[in-house]
Amino acid sequence: MRVALGADHGGFRLKEEIKSLLEEMNIAYEDFGCDCEASVDYPDYALPVAEKVAAGEFDRGILVCGTGIGMSIAANKVPGIRCALVHDMFSAKATREHNDTNVLTMGERVIGPGLAREIVKIWLETEFQGGRHQRRIDKVTGIEAKHLGVK
Ligand code: RB5
Repeated sequence: MRVALGADHGGFRLKEEIKSLLEEMNIAYEDFGCDCEASVDYPDYALPVAEKVAAGEFDRGILVCGTGIGMSIAANKVPGIRCALVHDMFSAKATREHNDTNVLTMGERVIGPGLAREIVKIWLETEFQGGRHQRRIDKVTGIEAKHLGVK
C-alpha cells in the first residue's frame, strides 16, 4: 500500500497528523505538499495526487483542505478517480465497500484530528465488496467515457 498525500493551507496541519498516523501504521506515503500554512490554491495539490493514483503509481490518495469540498471536486475531475469527502466513520467504511474510492478528502475546519485518524484507519483497512457495486462503478466509468472520451 502506497499513499499519496496533499493539502492546501486549510488542511496542512491535519495532513501532518495523517503522516504521523501512516508512520504508526507502517504505511508508505509521499507528501505532495503544501509544506506550510501560507495561502495556496487547492487544485494545485489535488491534481498531482489524483494523477498519481489514477496512473497506478500510488494505491490511494488522501487530500485535506479547509472543508474537503474543493479537494473532492478537483480530484473527481481526473478520470479513474473515485473520491469521497468523508467526516464520519460509517461513510468511511461504506465508501470503500460500495464505491471502491481511491481518494479520501476531509476538512480540517470540520473535524478534529482524533476522528480524522479513525476515518483514515477505517478507509485504508476496508475492502471493496464487488458484486452489484462493481456494476454501478462500471456505469460511473461509462459516464467518464461518454463525456471525456475515456475508455
Ligand atoms: C481555503 O480558504 C478554503 O477555501 C479551502 O481550504 C477549501 O475549504 C476549499 O474547498
